[in-house]
Amino acid sequence: MTAADAGGAPAVVLIGFMGAGKSTIGRILAARLGVEFIDTDDEIVRRTGRTIPDIFATEGVGRFREIEREVVCDVLAASSGVIALGGGAVMTPAIADALAGLRVVYLQISADDGYARVAGSDRPLLAGEDPFQRYRDLLADRADTYQRVATIVVAAARGGDEVATTILDHLAADSHDADSAAERISQR
Ligand code: S3P
Repeated sequence: MTAADAGGAPAVVLIGFMGAGKSTIGRILAARLGVEFIDTDDEIVRRTGRTIPDIFATEGVGRFREIEREVVCDVLAASSGVIALGGGAVMTPAIADALAGLRVVYLQISADDGYARVAGSDRPLLAGEDPFQRYRDLLADRADTYQRVATIVVAAARGGDEVATTILDHLAADSHDADSAAERISQR
């Protein structure tokens, strides 16, 4: 039985590139819905006792992705709250598969707007020469996957409260559709 069958599926999973606002919006959404918020990057730090730049520096991106896969799949199976994934998580096929059937919101942002928010941060994938070029290249590599995995796409270059309200409107419309479908079936 999946978490969704058990009624314990996450309320919402937020995906999108670095700087899209997944953690900020996740916190607002969780507070408004009255559920827990889990940022899977924070969960990786909590479980390993290490920072993400440290994991990248000492063990490399491949090992980081393995840890990420384990942590994200555990959280998706166990939490009924709002979950924010790290920007690269959906590129791991096991994670993309685990998102099937869940409410997945893609916070979409342009390279200019997103980079303005993360420039100067300690994100390991942006270290080295020309971080803006790296940001643009990675975003271009991932954009199709974000779209494919998402059930809702929301423009994220706005204030967090406004983005959260848009998402809640989508969720309310979805559950209204689901209620009407259930009603139609029960009236047959
Ligand atoms: C990554 C994004 C980061 C973090 C790690 C790798 C990525 O999370 O998981 O540095 O591959 O895009 P944020 O999207 O929260 O910055």
